[in-house]
Amino acid sequence: MPLVAQVQLDMEGALTARDRVGIQDFVLLDETTEAAFLSNLRKRFCNDLIYTYVGTLLVSVNPYKALDIYNQKQMDLYMGVNFFELPPHIYALADNAYHTMLTEFNNHFILISGESGAGKTEASKKILQYYAVSCPSTTLLNTVRDKMLMSNPVLEAFGNAKTLKNDNSSRFGKYMDIQFDSQGDTVGGHILNYLLEKSRVVHQNHGERNFHIFYQLVEGGEESLLQQLGLDRGSQHYYYLTQGRCAIVSSINDTHDWKTVRNALQIINIDEVNINHLFGIIASVLHLGNVHFDSDAKGHALLNNKAPLHWVSNLLGVDGSILQEGLTYRKIEASKDEVLSPFTVDHAIYARDALAKAMYGQTFTWLVNRINESIENQDPSKKTVIGLLDIYGFEVFYVNSFEQFCINYCNEKLQQLFIQLTLKAEQDEYEAEDIEWEPVQFFNNKIICDLIEEKHRGIISILDEECLRPGEATDLTFLERLEDKMGTHPHFVTHKLADKMTRRTLERGDFRLLHYAGEVTYCVVGFLDKNNDLLYRNIKDLMCKSKNAIVRECFSKMEPDSRRRPETVVTQFKSSLLKLTEILMAKEAWYIRCLKSNESKQPGHFDEALIRHQVKYLGLMEHLRVRRAGFAYRRKYEIFLKRYKPLCPATWPHWRGAPAEGVEVLVQHLGYLPNEYKMGRTKIFIRHPRTLYATEDAYERCKHELATRLQAKYKGYRAKGEFRKQKEAATKIETCWRGVQARKERERRAWAVKVIKKFIKGYMTRGQAKSTDNSEYLAFVRQSYLNRLKNNLPKTVLDKSTWLAPPAVLTETSEMLRKLHYRLMVRKYVRGVTAQRKAQIQLKVVTSSLFKGKKDSYPQSVSQPFVDTRISEQEINIRVIQSIRNEHIKYSVPVIKYDRNGFKPRPRQLVLTQTAAYVIEEAKIKQRVLYTSLKGISVSNLNDGMMVFHITCEDPKQKGDLVLQCDHLFELLTKLSVIAKKQSAINVVQGSIKFEIQPGKENAVDFSTGQEPLVYKAKNGHLMVVATRARTR
Ligand SMILES: Nc1ncnc2c1ncn2[C@@H]1O[C@H](COP(=O)(O)OP(=O)(O)OP(=O)(O)O)[C@@H](O)[C@H]1O
Ligand SMILES: [Mg+2]
Repeated sequence: MPLVAQVQLDMEGALTARDRVGIQDFVLLDETTEAAFLSNLRKRFCNDLIYTYVGTLLVSVNPYKALDIYNQKQMDLYMGVNFFELPPHIYALADNAYHTMLTEFNNHFILISGESGAGKTEASKKILQYYAVSCPSTTLLNTVRDKMLMSNPVLEAFGNAKTLKNDNSSRFGKYMDIQFDSQGDTVGGHILNYLLEKSRVVHQNHGERNFHIFYQLVEGGEESLLQQLGLDRGSQHYYYLTQGRCAIVSSINDTHDWKTVRNALQIINIDEVNINHLFGIIASVLHLGNVHFDSDAKGHALLNNKAPLHWVSNLLGVDGSILQEGLTYRKIEASKDEVLSPFTVDHAIYARDALAKAMYGQTFTWLVNRINESIENQDPSKKTVIGLLDIYGFEVFYVNSFEQFCINYCNEKLQQLFIQLTLKAEQDEYEAEDIEWEPVQFFNNKIICDLIEEKHRGIISILDEECLRPGEATDLTFLERLEDKMGTHPHFVTHKLADKMTRRTLERGDFRLLHYAGEVTYCVVGFLDKNNDLLYRNIKDLMCKSKNAIVRECFSKMEPDSRRRPETVVTQFKSSLLKLTEILMAKEAWYIRCLKSNESKQPGHFDEALIRHQVKYLGLMEHLRVRRAGFAYRRKYEIFLKRYKPLCPATWPHWRGAPAEGVEVLVQHLGYLPNEYKMGRTKIFIRHPRTLYATEDAYERCKHELATRLQAKYKGYRAKGEFRKQKEAATKIETCWRGVQARKERERRAWAVKVIKKFIKGYMTRGQAKSTDNSEYLAFVRQSYLNRLKNNLPKTVLDKSTWLAPPAVLTETSEMLRKLHYRLMVRKYVRGVTAQRKAQIQLKVVTSSLFKGKKDSYPQSVSQPFVDTRISEQEINIRVIQSIRNEHIKYSVPVIKYDRNGFKPRPRQLVLTQTAAYVIEEAKIKQRVLYTSLKGISVSNLNDGMMVFHITCEDPKQKGDLVLQCDHLFELLTKLSVIAKKQSAINVVQGSIKFEIQPGKENAVDFSTGQEPLVYKAKNGHLMVVATRARTR
């Protein structure tokens, strides 16, 4: 489903839910009959729904009761919401105008029309309040806003009055521009005022009042103020306030309103001096009204009571007698003289009233100017405005005079403007744009406007002519002239011109106009005077000298060129309306049509006839028909495309072709149905507002999306920038750091080069005497040598090879250290040696001295520790022990004894005592060898355990030498040599060992080496010992 269609559906759903009573837009009515229109209006009115749309036009029916629909909550509700999304409301229209102004940056105006009492002024106040409260504002602007709001009670007090039609009827026209800056803040305003109904100051019809301010002053004014102004409390004392006989009205609270106005005057910056002048004028008018005249015998006017005039002269600061003269005599300038011509009573009254009217009228303009000064925007930058037009409504009284003529003419003009802008211009546009169109018939009131204002032929021209004509022009001659000129005009009739039937309803001095809003019969009496609005020269001059600054200022400005005749009132009015039309035509229009629900100001009363009449003359049915058949919205292709092109990929961001084609593509994309729009020559026409609002909604959403996309792009761009910056920063830091590193490195290298150079120099001169060149080098060499030496010291005393070769400078030191170190190690070693070990070593030293370098098996024996004995005493037979105990057994070891004859091996124990060695077999001592008889001990030089004990043998019975083999040869022989002190008796023999079997009988032991150790008797009878070859070390 296209986007627009979806939004449309949502909106319509919401609409039906809310619109329970009647139809809120007449465009949606099933039939466009007046009956259906009125029925819908009544249905809604009876449910207090006073607002209904005809497209974007707002119809408002005066409820004559306070409705709770103008509160802050409602304002918030309508702020920024599309027109058709909420029930019809004046806030919706105000808001729509405001937002259109902001988005299109152009000027707008809201035309509020309707007859007197229909609710125009109320509507304009609601709009102003809405802008004041809802639009953004700053503290500074708040004061401007307050002033704009407060201008209302002041202008209403001075310019509104109770009439038969309306208790607060505007008696002046008001056009107010509200200025906004580009942010939509209310920044200022400007008011244009139109023709105040001054005649009311001096005369009120029955049931009507003078302007509110007079009553407010005399009813609500503070006692002291009244005293100061010479006033009595109560309006009954004043002629100008009592002619209508309804000074007190229940719907009006003058005392309360007085306070509001006093406060408002201060807020709009009118200082106390001026406020005093202002009330001085109001009081003067009241006093003037009480100035009465009697007629003397000649019919001349005479002042009948001086007090009021005294107060007037007092308050205005003018000479009392001159004032009196001005009111009772006319000054005629004849050639160079001035002649005073006395007034009749009527003339005097005329002069009095003219002064009162002039004073009041001028003061009113002064007040508007003051308000404008105080709400003027000071900032010169471009502003957009929303104009609010609230003018006096069409009115018909029993007697209608010049004022009603002007008021109704003004309404006629506004109706014409409405027709021009809606019915006519609209239909002309369809034609110009070539849009298929069935013309809607409507009544164009141009014919009435022409009747009134046409140059030379219109009523205004004729009135002016009569006013300016020399001779006896009167109101009746004016009427005659009208009859002459207008004779057959369909909208003009007089007693003379009327048919019989009509004539009955007309007086001779009347003329009747068939206005767009109905017939009005005007009584010509007073037309000329009121149009001339003459003020006698002498009074004017006097006022120019007034001590009241406001009066002086106003009257001085009145007629700069006294020779030229001033423009008549109606002509001035006509040109001001022309200017107003120009002002309005340059802006975009919004319409509020106010309907009066009944004539009796009753709440809830729906006077169908009265309303039907208004619906008819306001052209609402025609407007509805044009709206229904026509198009609610149109825009030049370029403008439409420019705004909505983001909604279609084909047109965004640029459409290169013709704008009309672009628009066509765009609306196709949006899913517009064929009957929803038409393509004109230069514009697109959209039938229903909802289509446009849906498009606008889509645009709003799209704007957000675009904004998000732009934001994302921008954020990306920013992030990229940031990244680049960081990267650059990182590179810079890196470069700096590298620089720092490089500089350090360079310094290090430079230092190294210096050190190396010094080192080399030192090296080269190391042998020379200590100098600056070599001293450092040598110190280094020393230190490094000592350091190295520390880690490479020999670990044992025996290690003689590990000493680090010293550098030349340390040769001596090194040697000293080496010795020291060895001594230290020796010391440590010695300290660690036990007594046992010492004894052992001492024994080993003996062994060494005996066998080192002599016997092959010696080296292997070194590492084998000696033990105390190899056979414990328990292992020796007890008997043997017993027999030798007293000799102290020192050492015992198992041996093998070879028989001297036959060499039979016999295992024996060899026990060494203090004095002898014993060969023992079990319990038998086989042989006792006294050490004293042991002459020698022979061992081979080979790797064997053979030993021969050579014994002195004096006794033949004694056995001969002992041939023994022992596995612990070195231990045995060392112990033996120590015990028997026989070191020198031990021989290491190369070759054979001879021994004596018995004295004189020898044999020998031969030695050889072989694979296996063997001991056997050789063929030569010798004992053959084969020793294994000793392992070479
Ligand atoms: N929206 C409204 N809610 C309640 N009362 C209203 C509303 N509009 C108008 N009225 C009543 O109707 C009265 C007349 O309204 P208002 O003064 O606005 O008429 P007007 O169209 O300005 O008449 P005129 O042309 O005489 O100035 C108000 O004083 C008020 O009592
Ligand atoms: Mg009004």
